[in-house]
Amino acid sequence: MLDPHSDSTTAAIKGRILVIDDEADIRESLEVLLTMEGYEVELAVNAADGLAKMERGAYDLVLLDLMMPDRSGIEVLDEVRQRDHETPIFLITAYGSTQVAVNALKSGANDYFSKPWDNEKLLLEIGRMIGANRLERENVQLKRALKQRYGFENIIGKSERMMKVLDLVSQVAPSRSTVMITGETGTGKELIAKAIHSHSPRAGQVFIPVNTGALTPELLESTLFGHVKGAFTSAIASRKGYFEEANRGTMFFDEISTISPDTQVKLLRVIQERQFMPLGSSEIINVDVRLIAAANVDLKKLVEEGKFREDLYYRLNVIPIHMPPLRDRKEDIPLLVAHFFDKYGRENDKFTTPDGHCEIAFDAEALQFLMDYNWPGNVRELENAVERAVVLSSGTKVSVDVLPEHILEAGGLRIRRDAAGALPPDASLFEVVADYERRKIIEALEACHYSQTEAAERLRIPLSTLNQKIKRLDIAIRKRGDK
Ligand SMILES: Nc1ncnc2c1ncn2[C@@H]1O[C@H](COP(=O)(O)OP(=O)(O)OP(=O)(O)O)[C@@H](O)[C@H]1O
Ligand SMILES: [Mg+2]
Repeated sequence: MLDPHSDSTTAAIKGRILVIDDEADIRESLEVLLTMEGYEVELAVNAADGLAKMERGAYDLVLLDLMMPDRSGIEVLDEVRQRDHETPIFLITAYGSTQVAVNALKSGANDYFSKPWDNEKLLLEIGRMIGANRLERENVQLKRALKQRYGFENIIGKSERMMKVLDLVSQVAPSRSTVMITGETGTGKELIAKAIHSHSPRAGQVFIPVNTGALTPELLESTLFGHVKGAFTSAIASRKGYFEEANRGTMFFDEISTISPDTQVKLLRVIQERQFMPLGSSEIINVDVRLIAAANVDLKKLVEEGKFREDLYYRLNVIPIHMPPLRDRKEDIPLLVAHFFDKYGRENDKFTTPDGHCEIAFDAEALQFLMDYNWPGNVRELENAVERAVVLSSGTKVSVDVLPEHILEAGGLRIRRDAAGALPPDASLFEVVADYERRKIIEALEACHYSQTEAAERLRIPLSTLNQKIKRLDIAIRKRGDK
């Protein structure tokens, strides 16, 4: 929506690459290599042709020859970099000298390759550069677009469903109407409540969140309405309630379904009459508070079961906003991942660029696991997984071995093997460990004639763990006595 190249599910082409080289052989071999890999390739026969093409079209990456008869690659680089700092440029040089490399990088090349280059390495670096650049560009564009449209730069998402939520938020923010936000745990209900407040005329006043479920009914009432000294045995001094403190601001009732019937009555009264009395007092206090409530259970059902007052329900549910679960808007996952990498990369001082971006990213396999997983804990669970990856990773590419076990289990671990059943030469540590684990388990099972109880004892792990591992590692179980 924001960038025609940004949606990997709709764009079959992996990216547009411009090859600038005066040697026909080199142009052709690069064209074949890159086209087979799924890139759209354009060729320029010399520096002037290359500069003209770059002027006209946008490329995801440029491969530039260092030595050309009309102008040197460095000159071309200098010229391009004066107006375009973004497009990644890889230099191709006949000389592998470090001085050449240093000059190239100084002039703004992103990488360089000496002839004859290693095709696989070249493809790997191209893929990496285009992928990282796209995600970053998409993220920057998205933040800019959201800011222009709503000013919600901390709320990440490009899915249709999130866009609808944000539309609604910007419509309701200016009013005083009560909002009811529903949705599963971790979908961003509190984040949205804060956004409503900060885009309302009350933004300069307080936003007070009340975690209703965490307090006993008595404590909740005194917290909300305040009390006078002596109102109850432990009331040794009088105390102002949240309603008084939130005057002219916003109060956020988290998990509204948990409040007791007595408190429900009092709440209804404040909403209807905009006034209340502190506990033990007969003084009426007038307040102007906007209420936002959140629930992750079906309040309507509680009303039908007689557990929640119907009149209060309708008072609260003036404007309902439903937060979609993350599994129904998976296209938001890569953006959220990039956002949380930046956040935790900065916090942990890990691989951050001067402009505050984190260079850590999941590799394709790990990202696939995240896309396949169904995220019962929604964005919060994803946020935790990324934080963990930042803390545990020692390089900028993060592979499956830092993902939580249950995410891998849900995705069904894939160990790559050749026809003879051997691991590939570039097997990850994770694959090697899993393969070893698998062999040990099969050994133990065979030694115990496939009695899982005995095998678990032998391996000194709980039977339930063995069961999980058998499933995850795809171990075929023969019955006792089978050959
Ligand atoms: N769209 C989003 N963009 C960026 N961060 C998000 C988004 N949605 C949720 N988060 C983050 O995920 C975490 C959980 O969000 P939040 O606390 O708002 O969820 P919740 O729906 O109130 O959950 P619960 O029902 O468990 O209270 C927070 O750290 C929040 O900042
Ligand atoms: Mg919450």
